[in-house]
Amino acid sequence: MCGIVAYIGKKDAFPIIIKGLKRLEYRGYDSAGVALIDNGQLNIYKCAGKVANLEAFISEKNAEGTIGIGHTRWATHGPPTDVNAHPHVSMDGSLALIHNGIIENYDSLKQELIKQGYVFKSETDTEVLVHLVDNISKKEKVWFGEALRMALSHVVGAYAIVAISKDFPNQMVAARKSSPLVVGIGEDGDFYLASDATPIVEYTKQVVYLEDEEIAVIKFGEELKLFSINDEEKRPYIQQLEMELEALEKGGYEHFMLKEIHEQPRSIQDCLRGRLNAQEGRVTLGGIKDYEQKMIQANRLILVACGTSWHAALVGEYLIEDLARINVEVEYASEFRYRNPILSENDVVIAISQSGETADTMAALELAKSKGATILGICNVVGSSISRITDAGSYTHAGPEIGVASTKAFTAQVTLLTLVALSLAHKKGSISETDFRILLTELEAIPEKVKKVLETNAKIEQIALEYKDATNALYLGRGSSFPVALEGALKLKEISYIHAEGYPAAEMKHGPIALIDENMPVFVIATKGNSYEKVVSNIQEVKARKGKIIAIVTEGDTQVREMADHVIEIPETNEILVPLLATIPFQLLSYHIAVMRNCNVDQPRNLAKSVTVE
Ligand code: AGP
Ligand code: GLU
Repeated sequence: MCGIVAYIGKKDAFPIIIKGLKRLEYRGYDSAGVALIDNGQLNIYKCAGKVANLEAFISEKNAEGTIGIGHTRWATHGPPTDVNAHPHVSMDGSLALIHNGIIENYDSLKQELIKQGYVFKSETDTEVLVHLVDNISKKEKVWFGEALRMALSHVVGAYAIVAISKDFPNQMVAARKSSPLVVGIGEDGDFYLASDATPIVEYTKQVVYLEDEEIAVIKFGEELKLFSINDEEKRPYIQQLEMELEALEKGGYEHFMLKEIHEQPRSIQDCLRGRLNAQEGRVTLGGIKDYEQKMIQANRLILVACGTSWHAALVGEYLIEDLARINVEVEYASEFRYRNPILSENDVVIAISQSGETADTMAALELAKSKGATILGICNVVGSSISRITDAGSYTHAGPEIGVASTKAFTAQVTLLTLVALSLAHKKGSISETDFRILLTELEAIPEKVKKVLETNAKIEQIALEYKDATNALYLGRGSSFPVALEGALKLKEISYIHAEGYPAAEMKHGPIALIDENMPVFVIATKGNSYEKVVSNIQEVKARKGKIIAIVTEGDTQVREMADHVIEIPETNEILVPLLATIPFQLLSYHIAVMRNCNVDQPRNLAKSVTVE
């Protein structure tokens, strides 16, 4: 999820590490820390807040040593505090470890280690790793590098890990699964490690990108050694870095928004991680499981949000009512807080917010709380204000979203709301076990289907070229695709400054159809499902007035293809999961049109990433 920098060699480690962590700040984080080995001592410096805080904290201390590890944390388990910051240290103070990612089975590992006498200081999932390595090292009488390799066979989740030990001051060990880790090979036998190449590129262009379940054993002055998790030695594939620093920060993409659009297979996977088990037919929402019965018995679920998060809430309304048969209302937080709503302790108010800091959404929650309602949160930023004032909640785990226009956070919110709808429906018995399992299997397949949708990028770029000079646009959808139409219109508005409106497809006849002419592009979600034929009729109504139709259709569709000016095919999936796929083409379309119009894609005019003022 966030940032790792490490160094071993002859140079002073601290300046290299702190500069490297600053290079990774663009990834978004909430706390930072460093461990250095100096004259056989392992020294730890860590605190919540920015790297500058850490630098100030260390400035009064003598941060010496030629081997060190540094970390910027994007919290997934435990709020951003000094204690929860990394590195985490073994009880005897000999071993320090940093980690990016999520340990899904941390709780069971933690309980087992507590039984064996381990005392945990933090609330993080990561801390189980350092005690597990220590435990195995002592039990099996192996060095910490071998103990780490053995420990990883017990770990379920995503990780980029680097560990050092004062008992082995001339080496470090790293491991990777799903979270990126790069080894830079210095010219003087020294090594640099980082989450991406940006902290490394100024020192060396010789890099090795660790593969999943690969372990690197790094000794100063010796060859880099790579092993599989099963201890088979592997030949390092050394690459020559070509990209310049600025390009590297965006992972080779031109803008953060494009990078985040393409991160969606992983961010949806991370949102499902540890929660969806299709094989065993289980949904586990740890953060809100104690409130599910209250949600089932509630008078209403009221979803409050703003902007894109409000669109995600609308999708949630369709899914929760359809599957769990629970009454859901969706409210603009800014309206809800001022209209003196009727609320009671039988209501459950759920805030949807990427930043967890939106002032109107916060205020809506405070109002709900004052009227006795239960308040829950679905946020992306751990430890954010909304996550702190709510009775409970779940994190979307989309990772830091830098682009102001929300993309991966939206699909993560919809993913989490889909899990909520499925979990409530299953507990309530409002869907059959067979349908439940079918939907879980379909949901599990979504990350791969998102990858397929992303492959339509070139075609979407062509369509963008044709409509980049439009002055207006209409987006139409029915059912749970109606909020996707709204979201598509918002994306176009906020980054290309073209006026766009989203409507329920049937609503077009009640006014907007007056806008249709040969200059009006109409983007329609016309995928297979209950309302397909109705949408086809709407398309015919547009065509009869010379409107241009760009339709998102299910792979293999022939009927709409005959009528539309352009079709974008997405893989078939269950109708309730279409929003997760249909959103992607609209994100890419808005992105390409904005680039062609020379707009500032990542920081559009007048917009802020988080609206913390009313
Ligand atoms: C969406 O692209 C915008 N960035 C904006 O509408 C955003 O969704 C809204 O401000 C809500 O932000 P939040 O999810 O952080 O509460
Ligand atoms: N899951 C770990 C934590 O919450 C690591 C988070 C990260 O990737 O920064 O501390």
